[in-house]
Amino acid sequence: MEKLGLNQLREMFLNFYESKEHYKKKSFSLVPEKDKSLLIINSGMAPLKPYFAGLETPPSKRMTTCQKCIRTGDIENVGYTSRHGTFFEMLGSFSFGDYFKTESITWGWEFITQVLKMPEDKIWATIYEEDDEAFTIWKEVIGMPVERIVRLGKDDNFWEIGTGPCGPCSEIYFDRGEKYGCGSEDCKPGCDCDRYIEFWNHVFTQFSKEEDGTYSNLAHPNIDTGMGLERLACIMQGVDSIFDIDTIKYILDAIVAKSGVQYGDGQFPTDVSIRIITDHIRSVTFMIGDGIIPSNEGRGYVLRRLLRRAARHGKLLNIEGAFLAEISKKVIEASGQAYPELEEKKDYIFKIITIEEEKFSTTIDQGTAIIAQYVEELKAEGQTVLSGEKVFKLHDTYGFPLELTQEILEENGCSVDIEEFDEHMNKQKETARAARKSAEEDGWAEDNLSVSMEGTTEFTGYEKVTDQGVVKAIISAKPNAASVGEGEDAKIFLDKTPFYAESGGQIYDCGTIYNDGFMAEVLDVTKVQGNFAHKIKVLKGQLHVGDTVTAAISVTNRNSIARNHTATHLLQKALKEVVGDHVHQAGSSVTAEGLRFDFSHYEAVSKEQLAAVEELVNDKILHFLPVKVEEMSMKEAADSGATALFGEKYGDTVRVVSVGDFSKELCGGTHVSNAGLIGALRIVSETGVAAGVRRIEAVTGLGVLKKVEESEELIHAASDILKTNRSGVLAKITNISEEAKSLKKELEDLKKSAISSSLDSILAEAKEIKNVKLLTKAFTDYDINDLRAISDDIKKNNKGVIVVFASQVGEKVTFMVSVTDDLLEKGYHAGNMIKQIAAAAGGGGGGKADMAQAGAKDASKIMDAFKVAESLI
Ligand code: ALA
Repeated sequence: MEKLGLNQLREMFLNFYESKEHYKKKSFSLVPEKDKSLLIINSGMAPLKPYFAGLETPPSKRMTTCQKCIRTGDIENVGYTSRHGTFFEMLGSFSFGDYFKTESITWGWEFITQVLKMPEDKIWATIYEEDDEAFTIWKEVIGMPVERIVRLGKDDNFWEIGTGPCGPCSEIYFDRGEKYGCGSEDCKPGCDCDRYIEFWNHVFTQFSKEEDGTYSNLAHPNIDTGMGLERLACIMQGVDSIFDIDTIKYILDAIVAKSGVQYGDGQFPTDVSIRIITDHIRSVTFMIGDGIIPSNEGRGYVLRRLLRRAARHGKLLNIEGAFLAEISKKVIEASGQAYPELEEKKDYIFKIITIEEEKFSTTIDQGTAIIAQYVEELKAEGQTVLSGEKVFKLHDTYGFPLELTQEILEENGCSVDIEEFDEHMNKQKETARAARKSAEEDGWAEDNLSVSMEGTTEFTGYEKVTDQGVVKAIISAKPNAASVGEGEDAKIFLDKTPFYAESGGQIYDCGTIYNDGFMAEVLDVTKVQGNFAHKIKVLKGQLHVGDTVTAAISVTNRNSIARNHTATHLLQKALKEVVGDHVHQAGSSVTAEGLRFDFSHYEAVSKEQLAAVEELVNDKILHFLPVKVEEMSMKEAADSGATALFGEKYGDTVRVVSVGDFSKELCGGTHVSNAGLIGALRIVSETGVAAGVRRIEAVTGLGVLKKVEESEELIHAASDILKTNRSGVLAKITNISEEAKSLKKELEDLKKSAISSSLDSILAEAKEIKNVKLLTKAFTDYDINDLRAISDDIKKNNKGVIVVFASQVGEKVTFMVSVTDDLLEKGYHAGNMIKQIAAAAGGGGGGKADMAQAGAKDASKIMDAFKVAESLI
């Protein structure tokens, strides 16, 4: 057989099937697009499930791919054997309800014997024990001797993976020769020895496996074949180990060169470490190329585990410093042509690898030393099981994946108390959940958190207004965002920050976050279980997880907040003194603009009391009372008489803020250092917000000036309108209001006399029905009070009259019905009549027998309403 390179084999396969009218499709991403049941694509058919199941229409009924795959189920074996790997490529040919078994087997045979020129007598086939159809095809169509067609059971020849399309299969084997065999008479495919190597599986997908484990028939039978490209390359290149294949050896050689060790003597740990790195760096490179980034969950965790495992084995080989990006470069050189995405994203891939490796490297030595010490302690005590809490600490503090700790322990004959570990892990997951919740509030997908966080954010804003921090995680509208760029919004988490996160009624700080080439505005800051989420808008540049940034709050804004916060404490105490000791805080809001304080009190606070409160607070401000902040135990705080919020949870150590001897409160907020800095306080309003709860709004410092400016503007605007100066405003307003009063009176008198003079002409419009004069009339220029006056006048001098008036303002109508006394005796009732009249115009109402009134919505129905009135006579 001709020695063919792995890249060449891939091309030959795809071209062969293209010649059989298969649509040649580029590999799908390793990240399943819609399939929630799968973490990472693990076979050629996995991304095609919707086509097999008939849920989606494929671009063609025949397809061929070379699919990137990752399987981590056998990860413990990787490195220890010559065949196991986590990353592999699967060559596949697929028929969606098109051709079936005969073509699949015939073309498969043609490819291996005529294109690859494998010797026919070295090929064996297995079939599912009940599949006589496949047997006949191999025997009759291909002409394979029956002794080389092996029937096997469901374990071997029924293919299924998770739920979805599955079916019986036929596997193709290559006989590597007697020297690899076990020598047994019965040695053939299915035997455990190394002689027969399976390399191509033809699955006759006829069924679908459901969630409950049952099988249903697919609408039409399909073909799904899968051939491991590395297996095929082993055969074609005549090598025993995947690590000897041309493209893979290229990577392995780079590791050998880098470490300066010998490879190939089967030594532990050297050979094993080299193979582990070789395999894992392939997975890592392809995963990052498909947008996965290291995290503590899901795919991100698989990646982190592989990357850190590779890094550790680099250490075992005594490689100094971060080296994986350099090896990843070899992966891209070997596979970049077939997978252009690797070439395109190579800088990004190297960057992510390096960040993660460096992050890990700073702690790996510490971590391994700690594990070594634990192992020693265990041995000294004659124990072998390490406590889950310790292992969790290693995971949480040093970022040691559990599996890595387990692996090192196992190398030393020890293990982990996994239950205890899980307990701690679950607690931490709560934190991550809370972070995701915060992301959700912004409408961002649940798994968009790029890196699960370890530890909490240190708040340095009591002492500093600017500080350096490292970006621990980014959440944005993009899934798994490891970075955020210009124009985008995101939430970033820092290890350290001077930004106050909204809490205890105090608003967050605003400001900027920047570094060389990057600048973002901070829109808000919230606390998520000890981690500070800074919502930012990027103004310039890119920010990545792991970057160091300067976080700078707006100092003047912070000072305004501090003024209002300290003033709130003074206000609370002043209210207690002036209004009574029953005053308790029921809520508060402190911003840069002002403060709002809700408190328990049963009635409005009088003007005099408010003035006294304001005066008392201003007096304390003018006394320049110093503000002191102390940390103490809850008990000490209680003994010292500090005010605490009822029902609030406090930690063991509390922060107590006092303003001179006047006020002492438990508080986590930021304050001025001396009450004098508040400048002045002005109460702006006092209102009720609920039964027994009052609200005071106030401003301080420049806020007072602002209020004064507002009043000034009002006076200016008023004097402009009144065409007078400031001092003339009052006199002018008094004049105008008196003038308005007398004009109003005049107008009313005029209206009245106009009505009485037109009464007769109005009455003349009345219709005489059954001895009743029915007067229906709609007005737009008189309101209902005027109409009532008109009807009263009519009734005074007339008998046998029913007045139905409508007053229309816009679409709104008011009806009134008025009945003269003589008709009341005949049974007419205004209240009853109006119900039906108003109803005709979409309204309702009622009233007394002589007079009733009702509102209605539809002015276009006034005439209909009047018709109803007629019908009621
Ligand atoms: N889907 C089949 C396999 O992965 C071909 O073996």
